[in-house]
Amino acid sequence: MGRLTETLTKSLENVVGEAGLIRDSERMQSYLSDWRNAYRGEAALVVRPASTAEVAEVVRLCAQAGIALVPQGGNTGLCGGSIPDASGDQVVLSLTRMTQIRQVDPGNETITVEAGVILQRLQEAAAEAGRLFPLSLGAEGSCTVGGNLATNAGGTAVLRYGNMRDLTLGVEVVLPDGRIWNGLRGLRKDNTGYDLKQLFIGSEGTLGIITAAVLKLYPAVRSRTTAWVALPSTQAAVDLIGRMRGLCGDRLTGFELMSRQSVEFVLRHVAGCNDPFAEVHPWYVLIELSDTLLDAPLNEMLENGLGEAFEQGEALDAVVAGNETQVAALWKMREGISEAQNHEGPSLKHDISVPVSSIPAFIETADQQLQAAFPGVRIVAYGHVGDGNLHYNISKPVGSEDAPFKAQAEAIMHVIYDVTRAFAGSISAEHGLGQAKREAARRYKDPLDLELMRTLKQALDPAGLMNPGKLL
Ligand code: FAD
Ligand code: MLT
Ligand code: ZN
Repeated sequence: MGRLTETLTKSLENVVGEAGLIRDSERMQSYLSDWRNAYRGEAALVVRPASTAEVAEVVRLCAQAGIALVPQGGNTGLCGGSIPDASGDQVVLSLTRMTQIRQVDPGNETITVEAGVILQRLQEAAAEAGRLFPLSLGAEGSCTVGGNLATNAGGTAVLRYGNMRDLTLGVEVVLPDGRIWNGLRGLRKDNTGYDLKQLFIGSEGTLGIITAAVLKLYPAVRSRTTAWVALPSTQAAVDLIGRMRGLCGDRLTGFELMSRQSVEFVLRHVAGCNDPFAEVHPWYVLIELSDTLLDAPLNEMLENGLGEAFEQGEALDAVVAGNETQVAALWKMREGISEAQNHEGPSLKHDISVPVSSIPAFIETADQQLQAAFPGVRIVAYGHVGDGNLHYNISKPVGSEDAPFKAQAEAIMHVIYDVTRAFAGSISAEHGLGQAKREAARRYKDPLDLELMRTLKQALDPAGLMNPGKLL
């Protein structure tokens, strides 16, 4: 790898201007550690180009000099993918100045946006056009489209609309040598060979820099109903989602599972959150039904489903939000879990997936094995149950020091991933591998998968300058 020289810095400044370059150590800090402060690195420079042409020139100049680049969007990733290594030789390439909404095409039901557009801004732009962009996640106020694409982000509406891969028709990418690949096609059908855009979606910045995308728009939602339901078990959650799907079909747009432990953390740490029930219950789900029709009979459908669930013993208690403030309060309880867990000391995040039907057995087996091997650790299980995606996160035992808990992180992870493998699951359903799960991927992924991935990496980035040390 090369090192940044004063001459190269000057050339980069000529491309991006003074406003696009950060060298001052204090101003650089927020680009060098992640949201949880779980990862920290050093960088030679932060470069913030404002257009695709500028990105291409930055990449070309760095490639010529052998300088490694770390693409970064909103820096909300949860596995250290956007954080440079400790060498201080890498350059952080931040896309946050690329914020243009290039085109809204209502006829084609698409929107073309640049990589630095914040997800919430994209949702607003879709709404302004009378449409819906359905990707929704807790970090939507700060994560960017580029990061969403590079991690193939999921979230709370995947159940109905799919993840970022499903929402994308085309991407524009600056390749590791600085050439611009214009894959910005707004086509729903194109069988002219390999679907190249899919290579870059989920590649975590290791194959090129995503600079723009053509994304799908959906009809706006005009009716919505939201409920918070207490359940006796995780099997009840699996039964209930099947029941609600049968009754409501695609109107079931959210079904989020939360353990009592997760809810307790939120009640303790997130201001304005209150338990809707007087009694304590072991599990909860947040259910959301939505429809494009105004005044769709969603409450009736929900009440029918819940009525059956009470009869079958699947549901113990339920509240239905009566207005938008109550809807927001229920979602805050769900989306506040990540933040709440941060207040309980270091957390170990495992965003696994297993077949939906295996969720109860997965949780039972993993809980038993963990509690036997690491008594007192607090299991914070919640997530997108309809996608088979659980956040099986672990907090340290009450009163214990951080250091001994952190020293057990790898052993805890192996217990969880061994159980995940036993249920034919994935060790990363949402957040990607980044630097956190790179080693685990070597252990848990099929060697042929890894060989094919290395072949692609070698073909596109032979010098290994795109986000080295991540994913592979
Ligand atoms: P960054 O964190 O900046 O980068 C993430 C990765 O993408 C890095 O590897 C980086 O190098 C690469 N990258 C960024 N931009 C580009 C680009 N333009 N070109 C190439 N590579 C690039 N994730 C989910 O999937 N579902 C959730 O429900 C969810 N909930 C979250 C809740 C909270 C509170 C937080 C903090 C995070 C959550 N996340 C979730 C994780 C995170 O928000 C997503 O991974 C998000 O998509 C990352 O976007 P970002 O712009 O912050 O990317
Ligand atoms: C979520 O769904 O809330 C996040 O993806 C989970 C996390 O922060 O671990
Ligand atoms: Zn999630």
